[in-house]
Amino acid sequence: MGYVIENITVITWDNDELKVIKNATVETEQSKISYVGCKKNDTPKSSGKVKIDGMGKVLVPGFVNAHTHIPMTLLRSYADDLDLHTWLFDHIFKIEDKLTDDDVYWGTQLGLLEMIAGGTTCFSDMYYFVDQIADATAQSGVRALLSRGLTNDEDKDDYSDDYRINEAIETFNKWNGAENNRIRVAFAPHAIYTCAPKYIRAIRDTAEKLGAYIHVHVDETLKEHNDSLRQYGKTPAQHLYDIGLFDLPTIAAHCVHVTEQDMDLMKEKNVSFIHNPGSNLKLGSGIAPVPDALRKGINVALGTDGASSNNNLNMWEEMNLAALIHKGSRLDPLAVRAEEAFKMATVNGAKALGFNNAGQIKEGFYADMVLIDLSKPHYFPEHNLVSNLAYSAQASDVETVFVDGKILYDKGEYKTLDREKILYNINRVCQRLFN
Ligand code: NI
Repeated sequence: MGYVIENITVITWDNDELKVIKNATVETEQSKISYVGCKKNDTPKSSGKVKIDGMGKVLVPGFVNAHTHIPMTLLRSYADDLDLHTWLFDHIFKIEDKLTDDDVYWGTQLGLLEMIAGGTTCFSDMYYFVDQIADATAQSGVRALLSRGLTNDEDKDDYSDDYRINEAIETFNKWNGAENNRIRVAFAPHAIYTCAPKYIRAIRDTAEKLGAYIHVHVDETLKEHNDSLRQYGKTPAQHLYDIGLFDLPTIAAHCVHVTEQDMDLMKEKNVSFIHNPGSNLKLGSGIAPVPDALRKGINVALGTDGASSNNNLNMWEEMNLAALIHKGSRLDPLAVRAEEAFKMATVNGAKALGFNNAGQIKEGFYADMVLIDLSKPHYFPEHNLVSNLAYSAQASDVETVFVDGKILYDKGEYKTLDREKILYNINRVCQRLFN
């Protein structure tokens, strides 16, 4: 079983080099890409495969949304135009206290509908009721690194009775490596302002034993930064480094106020810097020092954050913002180039999440790919296709989405999810939650 896409333009990365291949053929075999090249005639290998004509289209690696809270689609447009602390503590936590597993299941399905249609093939999530998130993700066919957000500010020496950590361990044992390794599980101390230092250390030790990744919010607001200086005498990143958290492969979300020294620590420990420009702008948190992180050679990837602080899960928009806001804020049109933003949205995200065989259109890699219709007016003329994708593209240009060699979405039609049923259930669960 597989696909042959002919006459296609391919944009991909050969390690760090951008490659545009015209008139190419791309073949898949089961979950993987089996051929990328320019052969003209069928070979026996191609027989029995489904042919797709790629004329007038471009094939790109699927987007990796490296930091989100997918069930927060339920809270979209519920509490807008507030700073992070007011938004989170006065509004979001109150509704989240009422959430049930059923709510989270449908909220996840809604997020998956939105992400798939926009060409996102992989995401990294932090939330709770992870069993339901994993269930919905398994059904959808999307690739994911899931984690249960862990919060506990009680300072003690033994957390072996902590129900959250125990739940996270259960989730890890149940889901890590599931669906042919399409779903993996990380450990997620939520942030330094919701976790006692010894709690973070306990999570770190548990994750190390299990060989799991870490997903954490780092230095999102100036308040977090200054509170950390006051309370611990050091920055949030230095604090986490000293706890030993960064000894494990880590996804650090936001990093808005990290210093030069913090970035040196992140580089030393190979921590991935997840840029969430939409959320940071909307909550008035600031603009992360992405050009400096890139200069230091840190792996920078992109995330939408939750749909309550963005307010969508559209990676095209994040790529566009990442390419634009640093130019404006630094008065430097070279601050983040189109090519760099595109790389952050794809291969860097796959690297950050530890899906090392994803994020490129390359033989032996997972067939996580997106076909984009180039017949729309905003793609003409085609002086520079990568620029067109970073600066002109719209999520609605996505035509076909493949994950793990399967088509999940084609010309507006979902192959694995029931759109009508999901929207019906969103209205149903919101009736109870918000009344
Ligand atoms: Ni977040």
